[in-house]
Amino acid sequence: MLRPPQPRPLAGKRVLITAGPTHEAIDPVRYIANRSSGKQGFAIAAAARAAGADVVLVTGPVELHDPPGVSVMRVESARDMLHRVEAALPADVAIFAAAVADWRVATEGTQKLKKTAAGMPPLQLVENPDILATISKLKDKRPPLVIGFAAETEHLIENAKAKFARKGCDWIVANDVSPATGVMGGDRNTVHLLARDGKEVTVDSWPVMTKEEVAAALVSRIARTVGA
Ligand code: CTP
Ligand code: CA
Repeated sequence: MLRPPQPRPLAGKRVLITAGPTHEAIDPVRYIANRSSGKQGFAIAAAARAAGADVVLVTGPVELHDPPGVSVMRVESARDMLHRVEAALPADVAIFAAAVADWRVATEGTQKLKKTAAGMPPLQLVENPDILATISKLKDKRPPLVIGFAAETEHLIENAKAKFARKGCDWIVANDVSPATGVMGGDRNTVHLLARDGKEVTVDSWPVMTKEEVAAALVSRIARTVGA
């Protein structure tokens, strides 16, 4: 039986997505990480592909299969992720769903750190590059639509608005990642889409949905904005 043709509103558009956590090595056997599963970013990649886009997904270490038809680049650290994202430009849309580790150790041990009688190793942290802010502030290669996420455990909208003002992106998807929500690692997500209407910030609160449904809703809003 012939299936009716699917609408492909993002055909011909290149969509770049980051997903998952990053791992920041402390020494050859230890790292700093977080609880991100990558599910939301992978779901967005699959939805963008289904809408006809050419999709590049730059992901940190996750236990997920490559979405069919998506060009997947697997990286470890925030700095690797930034380099891969820069190399993947230009893009029509960039969506930064990764939970990038904010800090790494200043000097990665070349050998496994050992317990000693002298006490604990002093781990000095330095801040990682902010990939979303870096790409949002590009002059020539800035994608026309740049979307960030705001992962918050309290004061969700207030914190997301402050982040929105800081990052220089076009939209922010705010989500509550406090443990009670089960968002980190779980299959559902409750999000609020922050955008700008002139000088005003608009907040569109979506009902609880699966991560696939959030992805589909986000992609259809993207398609309305940049699609053919
Ligand atoms: N982000 C990024 N690079 C970083 C940190 C964050 O690209 N080094 C992106 C995330 O992918 C997300 C957005 O910035 O799209 C917000 O990430 P979040 O962790 O919520 O905000 P931070 O600015 O890191 O602030 P904080 O963790 O202190 O809330
Ligand atoms: Ca952060």
